[in-house]
Amino acid sequence: MTFFVKKGTIIMYNYVLKRIFMKKNLLDERLFACAEFVRNQSVLADIGTDHAYLPVSLILDGKIDFALACDINAKPLEKAKETALKYGVEKQVSFRLCDGLNDIKEDEFSDLAVAGMGGEMIAKILDNCPYIKNEKYNLILQPMSKANILRKYLCENGFEILQEKAVISNRKIYSVINARFSGEVRESDLLFEYLGALQNKSDENAIAYKKKIKKSLVKKAKGILSADSENEQAKLILETAEKIEIQGEEK
Ligand SMILES: C[S@@+](CC[C@H](N)C(=O)[O-])C[C@H]1O[C@@H](n2cnc3c(N)ncnc32)[C@H](O)[C@@H]1O
Repeated sequence: MTFFVKKGTIIMYNYVLKRIFMKKNLLDERLFACAEFVRNQSVLADIGTDHAYLPVSLILDGKIDFALACDINAKPLEKAKETALKYGVEKQVSFRLCDGLNDIKEDEFSDLAVAGMGGEMIAKILDNCPYIKNEKYNLILQPMSKANILRKYLCENGFEILQEKAVISNRKIYSVINARFSGEVRESDLLFEYLGALQNKSDENAIAYKKKIKKSLVKKAKGILSADSENEQAKLILETAEKIEIQGEEK
């Protein structure tokens, strides 16, 4: 009996270790933060899945049981299939070759991840899918660039940013946005567009994000003002940069 219990415990221990190891290997900080925003036992549609690391890791972790791995290109989708096969979760993934959410039906998923693309592209994918304007969907959006354009789009199209996390991956800083449709359309302002929900955060990464944005806005504004000292847009950008409070730094 003791032998069986011990053997069972060792098998279970190895199984848990294997899963933790796999998960750690599959996700970088960026995708790890995306995974944290996915709801327990949801069905995830991962748009632009590439290797399908996010859905496969979430399935291995037991957080979700099923996912749609979607990509516009055939090669990444092949890689997605390879990953799922390698980890033995291929029956829990539906592979879709499609542009954005074009061929995905509205009742096929509850959580949506669009990660690793430019902010403009993410906004375009959302805009091309009218049914996504529904509070039932949990959106996890991770722009690699132009996060300001994505935040502006969200704000002006009735999406609310619920949470945002700054992460450092490959020595670069990114934001991971968790949003939901609320129907409340608001006029966005530059400070919101550049910092979103990171405005009031004071963790190390959020501070690094704010510093980076502040520096780039000052540079941009001063560049324009050096050629055109009366440029109103540049003045507004500079004003916005000055409003960015960096915790722990004197004003
Ligand atoms: C850089 S990879 C990101 C992979 C993964 N999501 C991540 O964050 O690490 C971008 C992927 O998005 C796919 N992609 C680009 N535009 C797309 C679109 N409109 N619809 C679906 N997939 C798209 C590309 O083929 C590529 O595989």
